[in-house]
Amino acid sequence: MTETMTLYPAPASPAAAPVEDFVLALIGRMTLEEKIGQLQQLDASGDPVPEALVAAVRAGRVGAVINRTDPVTCNALQRAAVEQSRLGIPLLMGRDVIHGFRTIAPIPLGQAASWNPDLVREAAMHAAHEARGQGVHWTFSPMIDIARDPRWGRIAEGFGEDPYLTGVLGQAMIEGYQGAGLDQPGTLAACVKHFVGYGASEAGRDYSTTNIPPNELANIYLEPFRMAVEAGVATLMTSFSDIDGIPATAHAGLLQGVLRGKWGFDGVVVSDWNAINELIPHGLCEGPREAALEAVHAGVDMEMAGSAYADHLANLLREGHVSAAQIDAMVERLLRLKQRLGLFERPYTPVEAAVPLLSSRACAVSRQLALESFVLLQNTGDLLPLDASRLRSLAVVGPLADAPHEQIGTWVFDGHADDTITPLAALRARFGEAMEIRYAPGLSTSRARSPELFGAAEAAVRGADVALVILGEESILSGEAHSRADIRLPGAQSELLERLRATGTPLITVILAGRPLVLTADLPRTDAVLYGWHPGTMGGPALVDLVFGDAVPVGKLPVTFPKSVGQIPIYYNHKNTGRPPVPAEIVLIDDIEVRAKQTSLGMSAFHLDDGYEPLFPFGFGLTYGKLELGDLRLSAAVLDPSETLTVTVTARNTGPRAVTETLQLYIRDVAASLTRPVRELKAFQRIHLAPGEQRVVRLDLTARDLAFHRRDGSFGAEAGAFRLWVGTSAAGGLEGAFTLR
Ligand code: NOJ
Repeated sequence: MTETMTLYPAPASPAAAPVEDFVLALIGRMTLEEKIGQLQQLDASGDPVPEALVAAVRAGRVGAVINRTDPVTCNALQRAAVEQSRLGIPLLMGRDVIHGFRTIAPIPLGQAASWNPDLVREAAMHAAHEARGQGVHWTFSPMIDIARDPRWGRIAEGFGEDPYLTGVLGQAMIEGYQGAGLDQPGTLAACVKHFVGYGASEAGRDYSTTNIPPNELANIYLEPFRMAVEAGVATLMTSFSDIDGIPATAHAGLLQGVLRGKWGFDGVVVSDWNAINELIPHGLCEGPREAALEAVHAGVDMEMAGSAYADHLANLLREGHVSAAQIDAMVERLLRLKQRLGLFERPYTPVEAAVPLLSSRACAVSRQLALESFVLLQNTGDLLPLDASRLRSLAVVGPLADAPHEQIGTWVFDGHADDTITPLAALRARFGEAMEIRYAPGLSTSRARSPELFGAAEAAVRGADVALVILGEESILSGEAHSRADIRLPGAQSELLERLRATGTPLITVILAGRPLVLTADLPRTDAVLYGWHPGTMGGPALVDLVFGDAVPVGKLPVTFPKSVGQIPIYYNHKNTGRPPVPAEIVLIDDIEVRAKQTSLGMSAFHLDDGYEPLFPFGFGLTYGKLELGDLRLSAAVLDPSETLTVTVTARNTGPRAVTETLQLYIRDVAASLTRPVRELKAFQRIHLAPGEQRVVRLDLTARDLAFHRRDGSFGAEAGAFRLWVGTSAAGGLEGAFTLR
């Protein structure tokens, strides 16, 4: 592995910070037990904080805790470290702050649909502010695992299938958490996870093994992590998963060879929860002693939740399997992080001047991000937006129309359902008595099967001018350890939709879910579809703004939507193969004669029942307006590697409404030393056009954008022909070509 990884480019601004003398001096005063203590992270949940934990902190046997968030108990625990331990080294307080602390933003997959790094950065900044005010120093976020399988529950926690989009949004989130510097008020140390390949868990089963060829690992899965290191991320977490026989937590080739060696990462590497001990069931180690040894040599500085280091490192040192210098280097990285966070000077969280939670600015950002996360998938007859002045009555139906807990999404520990504004509440707040709102849930939960509430829902819809049908998945049906094999709408929701369709009332279906769902059967049963992921605290008002045209939908899919589970994995940046599908040659199952002679039908990579195209491509999302793109121009037909290729298109709003679009630039390296994807996203840009407005939009490409990890393991671009597209999704677009000299 190390061999093929040798030529990664060094990050532009390595995260290295000068080592302060006092850190080295402190290490010089530490006993071996105190040093090993710094490498230990323990769970501090439970009320009251367990006395055994406090005693371990006093004894200098704990470097960090996880899952403690109120400033008073955090300070009490910190006092045990700072005032009652021999050396007074402060504790690091960690927490999963994944998409907001108290003000909950959309799930990260929803944030990714905004394609708006500025907003993602700002939401992370508010999350950091709120969390730091409650005593947290360190968040285990962002998750930048590439996910090509919507069955995987944790697809909700990441930014989708594309390495570039994931890298850009990951950088933005890191910048939001870490601000201008970790010693600044209201910042958190970020932690990118899970290094690496966790998203490739086979069949989307969480914690399952992965199968990632080295070339895919380098060009797809590692790329967002390289970008995170470039952005100065403070820490990184190893993955639970196994990469070609070596569990990630024991992978010296990747942790030492790539991460530290080639990228120059000098921050803290933490294991995932008990992942060092899990090297035993993985089948790599016979016991915790061997597991600790593997993890140290791989480069894991801190153990989360387990005690393999605490129990075995001292003996491993005495027996000469681990060196004192290795342990000192691990401790040094931990202490340096504490120093960067200013914890030696300011270990306590101010309690008197409490940082406000749910501030109006934090809620406004969460609302805007929710708004930009909604993707308009279908809008038959331009049903949306609705004109409120022409509506007498609106039916609001579905198990997620008024389910505050279910719209905040997975892995929320500090957000409260009570703070959440549901679509129903937002509609009532907006219209009061001015509109008849006929609410009927239809089903008690998203999983419910009983049709007992169908009748009331049908009656509500039948008597209304329009119906808003809010379906999807509960929060608990996605996220860690919550993968699904059948990703259609759960329970009897499709049946409910079919019954509502029969009323003849125009239907707007809103889907709130932690993953792409298979909606093939549902699309014909509704006029419009807005896909809202789990939109968080302010999801209701954001939706109402979109439905009534106070805002326009701008969301774009960060992941391909399959027609069926059988199409998975299906992603836009696949290889062409020797037999790419040709539309005219596709033969579908009903076209085949009974007892037909065996042939290589169509001779291309497709399914007899579902063809080869997805339900919706990556990058897709409709707007309320009409945009025309034309006049694609490239600044050169032949590009020198030192030059920038300037690509321009003319965008024209030909409709009566303002348009906001995200133009996307894709390339394809036509022939290379390794086969390359049919398309790769390389740049994107948001544009706003008033009705009738026309504008020339410019996107730039450099040779760096054309580079990849080549057959010989080196990184760079290869001369030759390239194709290029500018469009509004990964399908279609204006096409151009150029040659790299
Ligand atoms: C396990 C998860 O995989 C990881 O992402 C998370 O940060 C830790 N648990 C801590 O909760």
